[in-house]
Amino acid sequence: MNISILKSNPPYFFLAPLAGYTDLPFRSVVKKFGCDMTFSEMTNVNAIAYNNEKTKRMMEKSPLETPYFVQIAANNVENAIKAVEKINEIDWIDGIDINLGCPVNKARRSGFGGVLLKEENKEKLKEIVNAIVKTSKKPVSAKMRLGFDEIVAVDRAKMLEDLGIDFLTVHGRTVKQMYKGSANYDEIKKVVKAVNIPVITNGDITDYEKAKFVLEYTGAAGVSIGRGAIGKPWIFLEMKQQGNITPQQKKEVILEHLNQMINFYGDYGVILFRKHAHAYSKGLKNASEFRSKINEVKEPQKALELLEEYF
Ligand SMILES: Cc1cc2nc3c(=O)[nH]c(=O)nc-3n(C[C@H](O)[C@H](O)[C@H](O)COP(=O)(O)O)c2cc1C
Repeated sequence: MNISILKSNPPYFFLAPLAGYTDLPFRSVVKKFGCDMTFSEMTNVNAIAYNNEKTKRMMEKSPLETPYFVQIAANNVENAIKAVEKINEIDWIDGIDINLGCPVNKARRSGFGGVLLKEENKEKLKEIVNAIVKTSKKPVSAKMRLGFDEIVAVDRAKMLEDLGIDFLTVHGRTVKQMYKGSANYDEIKKVVKAVNIPVITNGDITDYEKAKFVLEYTGAAGVSIGRGAIGKPWIFLEMKQQGNITPQQKKEVILEHLNQMINFYGDYGVILFRKHAHAYSKGLKNASEFRSKINEVKEPQKALELLEEYF
């Protein structure tokens, strides 16, 4: 399969999918700082199969984003196939990433995400991944946790490799752990040794030193950065040691991010931007006063003025 980025020299620096954060406006900002690959927020195959408009919008790609994979969560073969057939027809999508980690209750109950790593769901996991790989005309990757409650990462990684996925991202926690404790890089190291496809390490990587350590320790082909990029889309500059960002540049990035949100969502983008504004102001002077103000603003022009004044 042809994934251009995986033909260049590792290590690779990916932006992890974060539902509610890594939408098109955020990804288009992140891409300016050297992030190698981006993924959509998690989308549901049932919604794709039935042409849900919101989901279609979630799958859009910004001009800088190549390669760009759409992440899908599937709980049944039939709609997984229908969804992949639809994705096959969308030129701008470069590949499909299968979500095998989502820990939220709704996903557990509906049978998609991390619950597919349970022993009792092994056959179902196999059927779903097999159907996706066989149907897809594009490369397919997976992003998984270490297991549901017990660690089964090596076993499932081998299975996914045998089913034909092109690369694998591993978040070093079980589903049951949610975000507690710290990422277990020993298990990721075992996965790297056990398979021949590129493995990307994910979990708790927030700066260059940590990325360097994790890459050496696990032997992975790359790292995937999630929460570390929230409020810090320029993190990839630092990760790749390509320079530092000045306060003036930060301000420009923040303003651009809001502008992109407004372009994409209309005025509602101002409201959706609030959580990002909170993250950008973390640790800055008078942040709580600024946050109270931004929480009140609904008009794009007023929000832009407030950012201009504060940052
Ligand atoms: C708010 C939030 C939303 C997330 N949404 C997704 C998602 O849509 N798909 C996915 O595979 N993982 C999702 N994750 C998990 C992250 O991609 C990542 O695996 C996890 O946060 C650990 O990496 P980090 O320590 O770099 O954040 C989400 C995590 C958070 C905190």
